[in-house]
Amino acid sequence: MNRILLETINKKNTSRPPVWFMRQAGRILPSYRELKQKHHFYYMMKDKDLATEVTLLPINDLKVDAAILFSDILVIPDAMGLKLDFTSNGPKFSNALKTTGNNIIKYDSSKLNYVYDNIKTIKNKNNDIPLIGFCGGPLTTFLFMFRAKENNKSFKDAIKFFYSNRKESIKILEQITEASIDYAKNQVLSGIEVFQLFETYCGAIPHKLYEELILPFSKKILNTVKEMNCPNIFFPKDYSLGLKSINSDICDFVSIDWHMSLNNARYLVDDSVGIQGNMDPRILYYDLDKIEKYLQSCVEFGSNNYDWIFNLGHGFIPDIDYKKAQFVVEWIKKTNWNR
Ligand code: CP3
Repeated sequence: MNRILLETINKKNTSRPPVWFMRQAGRILPSYRELKQKHHFYYMMKDKDLATEVTLLPINDLKVDAAILFSDILVIPDAMGLKLDFTSNGPKFSNALKTTGNNIIKYDSSKLNYVYDNIKTIKNKNNDIPLIGFCGGPLTTFLFMFRAKENNKSFKDAIKFFYSNRKESIKILEQITEASIDYAKNQVLSGIEVFQLFETYCGAIPHKLYEELILPFSKKILNTVKEMNCPNIFFPKDYSLGLKSINSDICDFVSIDWHMSLNNARYLVDDSVGIQGNMDPRILYYDLDKIEKYLQSCVEFGSNNYDWIFNLGHGFIPDIDYKKAQFVVEWIKKTNWNR
């Protein structure tokens, strides 16, 4: 097995940083686009053979050091009865949470069995590369659960509900956390090697409020996999100076968004926690010379920090040229990182 990601997470010294990309399965790959012309995204995610194929496409096409399960963070609210629909304009729930309150939620764990079958199929097909499982952070999941219309992209209603119905909000967050724990546990039992928690909308509330009210839930989900010997990565996007509250009681690695420099992130985050990130995905709009300059600017950090996973500061943008992502991976692999 390509062990560079696991060795880095386990704080072993390697000759270069491992590399994978958020949203590498889907989005930018021509091979994915071809499949998408024939099948709906939701169908591909549920179908064992297609989900396996798409999960493994970036291994062939980009030569990254890890695969991430082809699925979505919104399968949890779907299993909680919200009825997920992926329209061409984005996801929505026909049974979205009501801002009038008194929401009744029932999690049906069996609705996620297909994910566990997919993980087993992927591991059977290719055991040469570590597989990353994931779920959404509690706040991000909560915010999406109010989305009844695909064109309603702001979380205004959900945030208003969070401020005005605090008690019910916390109850819903508890239910999301319980479902996520069950989901994460079953992913580990099915064979994932690493788990990432995507708290993409961490920055929707002040970081102090996140730390007090939501972080204990995120920690519970992350600790669940950790107790099962599966290392974890936490992606609290836009957490900014809140990163100061991240330590190894919470996660093994923290994924940094593109707002902050790697050195500032390293300064803020406790030494016991490794760093993942954080190339601004828009750098991939540059030409290759400028991309190479950016990569060169990372070498000093990479030579001093063994506990670093190269990744983006947020997922690929759909219109990025995948050849530039290939270039990044090749460059990382051939460069002398002065280690
Ligand atoms: O990293 C990977 O490629 C693995 C698969 C993955 C998907 N979504 C597939 C997907 C992962 C890890 C996600 C996470 C996800 N989903 C997040 C958190 C990370 C992030 O980038 O912010 C969020 C907020 C979602 C919710 C979601 N799913 C939205 C808002 C949309 C529509 C717009 C879009 O493309 O992001 C989706 C659909 C979705 N999830 C697609 C894919 C490949 C696009 C479907 C298509 O091809 O039409």
